[in-house]
Amino acid sequence: MKECKHLAIIMDGNGRWAKAQGKPRTAGHLVGADNVRTIAIAANDLGVKYLTLYAFSTENWKRSREEVSYIMKLPAYFFKKYMQEFIDRGFQMHMIGELDELPADTERVLKEAVEESKKNTGLSLNICMNYGSQREITLAARHYAKDVLEGKADLNIDEAGFEKYLMTKDFPPVDLLIRTSGEERISNYLLWQIAYAELEFVPESWPEFTPEVLKRCLEEYSHRDRRFGGVHE
Ligand code: FPP
Repeated sequence: MKECKHLAIIMDGNGRWAKAQGKPRTAGHLVGADNVRTIAIAANDLGVKYLTLYAFSTENWKRSREEVSYIMKLPAYFFKKYMQEFIDRGFQMHMIGELDELPADTERVLKEAVEESKKNTGLSLNICMNYGSQREITLAARHYAKDVLEGKADLNIDEAGFEKYLMTKDFPPVDLLIRTSGEERISNYLLWQIAYAELEFVPESWPEFTPEVLKRCLEEYSHRDRRFGGVHE
């Protein structure tokens, strides 16, 4: 199967899934959090090296106070339950987003997960928290402009040079982006990094996104003809 080194997922549909079961939206987020572990293990088994998940966007603050506060407590639940297993499996945790704007406890838990797993060399599990791609690019532009003003960067920077200012500077470009739950939008996610990614939109909600569905997606990906703007004979 063609290698998918970097897989990104927009984990959509937790709320609708819960509602369909007569449960509160937060019940969907809880099952969704447990599914992060299931899919991280499955992705690793299927050869993925970088798995980047959209957990909370810069726009998600518009949700009710109850829902936001529930999502902010999920990392503590999640890492308490699974961190030891992730360490044993060699996973390294990375966070993408403006963590300093999160509740202090959430920020601490996320940073601890990164610290505890930093010696690992296996799957890079990247959680996007308080992340928005336009914000990321704006912050990168600001930082770059400052470096130019201070004589630390050349005005004639190229794409590879600019990428070093992005929050994803340590990761390769995204090969495949999957969005669950039927919506066909990118929602301000990794706009720079998906320049040549393959896109797949699946009907299953995130809680219904099983390892079998992931395998189906990777099989579909392996049949795509990636030309990166060139021509294949
Ligand atoms: C989208 O579904 C989901 C979210 C905004 C939250 C996703 C968060 C998790 C899956 C848990 C994160 C886990 C960790 C470890 C931090 P939605 O609520 O937009 O669903 P809807 O479209 O049906 O309303």
